[in-house]
Amino acid sequence: MRILVTGGAGYIGSHTVLLLLQEGHQVSVIDNFSNSSPESLRRVASLAGRSLDAYHIDLLDAESLAQAVGEIKPEAVIHFAGLKAVGESVAQPLKYYKNNVVGTLNLLEAMNKAECRTIVFSSSATVYGESTDLPLHENTLRNATNPYGRTKLHIEEMLEELAASDSRWHIANLRYFNPVGAHESGLIGEDPQGIPNNLMPFVAQVAIGKRAEVQVFGGDYLTADGTGVRDYIHVLDLATGHLAALDYLSNSQGVHVWNLGTGAGSSVLEVIDAFARISGRPVPYRITERRPGDVAESYAHPEKARLDLGWKAERGLEQMVADMWNWQSNNPDGFPEANHQLVNAKSLQDFIRGSSPTITE
Ligand code: NAD
Ligand code: UD1
Repeated sequence: MRILVTGGAGYIGSHTVLLLLQEGHQVSVIDNFSNSSPESLRRVASLAGRSLDAYHIDLLDAESLAQAVGEIKPEAVIHFAGLKAVGESVAQPLKYYKNNVVGTLNLLEAMNKAECRTIVFSSSATVYGESTDLPLHENTLRNATNPYGRTKLHIEEMLEELAASDSRWHIANLRYFNPVGAHESGLIGEDPQGIPNNLMPFVAQVAIGKRAEVQVFGGDYLTADGTGVRDYIHVLDLATGHLAALDYLSNSQGVHVWNLGTGAGSSVLEVIDAFARISGRPVPYRITERRPGDVAESYAHPEKARLDLGWKAERGLEQMVADMWNWQSNNPDGFPEANHQLVNAKSLQDFIRGSSPTITE
C-alpha cells in the first residue's frame, strides 16, 4: 500500500515506518522535526534497505500539507504527529490544541480532498483519565484530566463525528498504554529533549550516568510495593498493532477503537530493578511525593485487539529494558544534533538516501 505517516520521524513513528518498509509498503513521511531528527529516518531507510519519501512540513501549514497529500495520493494515513508532554500542555494549552487538534483537522481536510479516507490515529490511555475501573476496557468512560489528554479526546470525538457523517471513512483510534523499548539494532529509539517526563527514559539516563537518581513519585499507593503500576508495552509490539489495524480497516468502515497494551502492569520499583540488573549499572533512587494527577495503577484489557486484529504484545519487561539499554548505551546523547542543521543545508531526500551512518557537515 501507499501509506502516509505523519510524525514518522518520531519515536513510535520511526519504528512503525521501519516495519511498513519491511512489509513492502511504499511510505511517505510528513514531519516538522519539532521533536525528532531526520537522522532517525535515514537509519530506518538504512535498516530496511529501502528508501522512503520525506516531507519537511508542519501540519499547521494547511496549504503545503494539502499539496503534499495530493501529490502522495496515499491509500491510508497513520497519524502520529502531535505534541505529547503533559506538563507543557498545562502550561501552554493553546499550543497543544492548535498543534494537535488543528493539525489533525488540516490533515483530515487534505485527506478528504485527496480522496483518502483511511486513518489510524495515535490516541492514548490518557483518555481514561483517573479511572479505577481496572483493567481499562475500550468502553471505560473517557475522562481526560489535562489539556494533552483532552486534545486526544477531542480528536477521537472529531473522528467519530466524521465517520457518522460520511460512511466512506475507515478509522482506527489506537489507545496506547506506556510505550518503551527500542529496535533491537540499537540504531533507533526514543530521544527525549531535556529532562525526560516518563519513567523509563529517565531510568535509562540514570543508568548511563547522565542523572544522579530516580525520584520515585510516591511509595504509599495501594499496590504490591507501594509504587505506581503501569502497562509498559514494547514499541515494536505497538508498531505491529498499527499494521494489524490497517489490515482490518481495509475491509471495515466506521470507527474502531483498540487498546494497545500487554494487559499486565509493572511497578516503578520493578522497572528500576530490571534496569539495574540488565544494564549491570547502579540505579539509585529516592521515594518522593506523589506526582499530581497520577493514578496508582493503569493497565489494559487487551482482548478486543486480540479478537478483532489477531494482535497481542509478545515482548516482556526484560526485553523492553534490554532493548532500551542497548539504544541508550549506543547513543548516550540520542541522535546527533548536527542533523537538524543538515535538513536546511541539504535536501532532506538526499540526506535520507545517504549511506554513511555518521553525519558530518
Ligand atoms: P514523538 O514526539 O517522538 O513523535 C511525534 C512526531 O510528530 C515528531 O517527529 C514531531 O516532530 C512530529 N510533529 C509534532 N507536531 C507536528 C506538526 N504540527 N507537524 C508535523 N509534525 C509534527 O512522539 P511519540 O512518542 O512517537 O508519539 C507519537 C504519537 O503517539 C503522539 O501523537 C503521541 O501523543 C501519541 N502517544 C504517545 C505515547 C508515548 O508515551 N510515547 C503514549 C500515548 C500516545
Ligand atoms: C504519562 C502521562 C500520560 C501519557 C503516558 C504515556 C502524566 C501525568 N501522564 O503517564 O498522559 O499518556 O505518560 O506517555 O505525565 N514515575 C516516577 N518517576 C519519574 C517518572 C515517573 O516515579 O521520574 C512514575 C509515575 O508516577 C508512574 C510511572 O512512573 O507511576 C510511569 O510514569 P510515566 O512514564 O510518566 O507514565 P504515566 O504516568 O503512565
